[in-house]
Amino acid sequence: MQRVLDPRVSGWAMILAWTVACAGGGVTRERFGTTDCGEAVSVFTLKNAHGMALRVTDYGGIILTLLVPDKNGRLDDVVLGYDSLTGYLRSSPYFGALIGRYGNRIAHGRFTLDGKTYTLATNNGPNHLHGGLRGFDKVVWDVAPFEHPDSVGLVLRYTSPNDEEGYPGTLRTTVTYTLTSANELVFDYSATTDRATPVNLTQHSYFNLAGDGKGDILGHVVTLNADRFTPVDSTLIPTGELKSVAGTPFDFRKPTPIGARIDQDDVQLRYGPGYDHNFVLNKSGDGHEPTFAARVYEPATGRVMEIYTTEPGLQFYSGNFLDGTLHGKKGVVYRRRYGFAMETQHFPDSPNKPGFPSTILRPAEQYRSRTIYKFAVQP
Ligand code: GLA
Repeated sequence: MQRVLDPRVSGWAMILAWTVACAGGGVTRERFGTTDCGEAVSVFTLKNAHGMALRVTDYGGIILTLLVPDKNGRLDDVVLGYDSLTGYLRSSPYFGALIGRYGNRIAHGRFTLDGKTYTLATNNGPNHLHGGLRGFDKVVWDVAPFEHPDSVGLVLRYTSPNDEEGYPGTLRTTVTYTLTSANELVFDYSATTDRATPVNLTQHSYFNLAGDGKGDILGHVVTLNADRFTPVDSTLIPTGELKSVAGTPFDFRKPTPIGARIDQDDVQLRYGPGYDHNFVLNKSGDGHEPTFAARVYEPATGRVMEIYTTEPGLQFYSGNFLDGTLHGKKGVVYRRRYGFAMETQHFPDSPNKPGFPSTILRPAEQYRSRTIYKFAVQP
């Protein structure tokens, strides 16, 4: 059953309500629509003192809008997505969504844990992707807003029942989105389980730092703090090798435009085609504090996004599968490489790769991970 959106919260009316409600910063909540199962869906608007604003829906924890100032103070929405809930319900390549239980791919939708083999949906060719048919991006989260002197945010909670999408154990998940007065967007993930299960939570926003719909992202200049990456097979499952980036188009240790080598004749670039790879982040410290992972600079607007994370890996996806069929916000046609994602996470297919850092959470343990997207400008 398809429901019609509440006209009070669509288009300009919503923008007006948002501007009025948030003139002094803080968090507001409005109705966004109804899922096909009849669940009410809300949208939350968060704003900081520098004009940065974030709109998030409790459906999939999706980031709908992220307004960020450029070098002249001009605010633009820098994330891809849709204007209405209907767009997300109908077809979305995980625009802005919270991903779980397992971000990225598990080969053939199968893994063996403590002697038992589990079967998951194969929703991406022969593989399992982003938690399955109804992953955490398609459930309605329980959301509680908060306001502190230097930050505003949302606490999102979801309890995934035992066997949901084939995964073992009841998983209690809490994710906090915080917008700070230092123009940071902070993601804190935590989870507990009553049976051993793989967990790999991430955020799947697509960015265009020039502004949503302002063309492709090939001119964005990327730095990745990674000496190695995980080469993949033709279905994007890692071979298990941790390969040096030296001398390859995967070497982003010095700032390099995304487009500089994306079409080089390299077998690893043929599958996307383009970047859709996990980078092995160089780590320092005890692993409890986020460390520098990536920097992205957009020359025309001067916008800079830096990423810090406690995670060991980062999936850099150059929007290769956008093919002009999706019409996003304000009718923008999302063509190939109109957005990029940088998903901090554990390595793909870890449950089947004993050599990769473990993604198994056991009872009495606590899953914890933190990622910071920090926005700034460079003249
Ligand atoms: C992830 C994957 C990509 C693609 C997108 C969604 O980033 O790595 O291959 O599936 O999600 O389209």
